[in-house]
Amino acid sequence: MSPYTAVELIRAKRDGRPLDDAAIEWLISAFTNGEVADEQMAAMAMAIFFRGLDDRELACWTRAMIATGSRMDFSSLTRPTVDKHSTGGVGDKITLPLAPLLAACGAAVPQLSGRGLGHTGGTLDKLESIPGWRAQLSTAQLLAQLDDVGAVICAAGSGLAPADKRLYALRDVTGTVESIPLIASSIMSKKIAEGADALVLDVKAGSGAFMKNLEDARQLATRMVELGSAAGVRTVALLTDMNTPLGCTVGNALEVREAIEVLAGGGPGDVVGLTVALANEMVSLAGLNADPADVLANGQAMDTWRRMIRAQGGEVDAPLPTARFTDEFTAATAGIVTTMDAMAIGTASWRLGAGRARRNDAVQAAAGIELLVRPGDRVAAGTPLLRLHTDTAEAFGPAREALGSAITIGIEAPIVRPLVIDRIG
Ligand code: URA
Repeated sequence: MSPYTAVELIRAKRDGRPLDDAAIEWLISAFTNGEVADEQMAAMAMAIFFRGLDDRELACWTRAMIATGSRMDFSSLTRPTVDKHSTGGVGDKITLPLAPLLAACGAAVPQLSGRGLGHTGGTLDKLESIPGWRAQLSTAQLLAQLDDVGAVICAAGSGLAPADKRLYALRDVTGTVESIPLIASSIMSKKIAEGADALVLDVKAGSGAFMKNLEDARQLATRMVELGSAAGVRTVALLTDMNTPLGCTVGNALEVREAIEVLAGGGPGDVVGLTVALANEMVSLAGLNADPADVLANGQAMDTWRRMIRAQGGEVDAPLPTARFTDEFTAATAGIVTTMDAMAIGTASWRLGAGRARRNDAVQAAAGIELLVRPGDRVAAGTPLLRLHTDTAEAFGPAREALGSAITIGIEAPIVRPLVIDRIG
C-alpha cells in the first residue's frame, strides 16, 4: 500500500506546502503506470503552475521523469558528445547548420528532435522536406552514424522520459504549458536521458517564444543550467532575442534552403551569427580545438551536412519542393520598418500550412513565409514586405488575418537589439 494519495499531494501543493522526494517519486511513477489519473495530474500541474517547485523539488521531479524511461549510452564513441536545445522560436533553423558544423569540428552531435506544434516549426518537419530523408533510426543506426559522420538529427524514441510525453499532452490542453519548473523539467529530463557529455541551451525571449519577457527566460535558463550541471552534464545557456523571426524564411523547405545557404558561406547575418555563437560554446564545452567560423567558411561543415543527409536517405542534390501559390504582403505606407512580430509571422506561416494544430496533422513542405525586408529597412508604399507560400490558396485569407499589424512602419529607425542577450553557466 502506498503511503501517498494523489489528492493529498495535490492539496499540499495547492496550499503551498513542498512535496518530499519520496512523494514526487511515487507521483511520477504512479502517473506513468496509470495509477494516478490524468485529471489528478492535470490538477497537480495547475497547482505547480501557481505555486512552483523549489530547487530540491525540481531536481527530484526531473530525476523521477528520467527514471520512467531508458537512457542513451554513448560510451562506445571516441568523439566527445555535445547536444543543443532551443526552447523554440519562429524561423529557428539553427540546428540544421549547427549539427554538421560541430561534427566537422570533431564532436559527436546526437540531435534527437521533435515535430512542430502551433506557431513554432519542428526540426524533423523541416528535414522531411528533403526528398527521401527519414527521421526514424534504430539505436544501432544512430550510433553507427554518430561514429561515422559525427552528426545525427532524428526522431527521439519514445523510451526517453516517457512520463514527459503524457504530462506534456495534459499540459497542452489545460493551460499549464507556461510554467517555468514544468518546462525546465520537461526539457531537461529528455536532454539528460539523451546522455550527451555537454549541452548548450538556446533560451529564447520575446513575442515568438514561450517566455515573452527576459526575466522569465533568464529564470528558465538558470534553472535548466542548474539541472544539467547537477546531473553531470556540462551545461551553458545563451539567452537570445525572439521578437523578430530568425533569418529571412519561416516554413519547412524554405528554412532548409536558408540553412544550406549558411553552410555554403552565405545566408542572413543573424542565422550565421547565432550558429557560430552556439558552436563556439559547444566546442569549448566539448574541449575541442577548432574554430567554428573557419570550419563553416572552408566548406567542411557543408561536406558533413551532405554526408549526414545522405546517411538518412536524403537526396541531397534534389530540388526542394516549391509551393503551388505565392502572394505578396505589401507596405501600406512609406517609412522605416520598425517591427516584424515573430508570433504573428509564425502563426501566419502555420495557417499557410507549414505547421500543425494537432499532433498528427500533416504539414506542407513548401508552405511558409519569406521576409523580403528586415527591421531598419526603408520602404515605399506598396513595397513587398513578405512573400507567402502555400499549396492551398484559401489559406491566404487566414494568414493575412494573422499578420494583422505584424509589421509596423514608422519614421525612426528601430533600436538594434543584440541577438545574444546574455550567457548563463
Ligand atoms: N518543450 C518541451 O519539451 N517541454 C516544454 O514543456 C516546453 C517546450
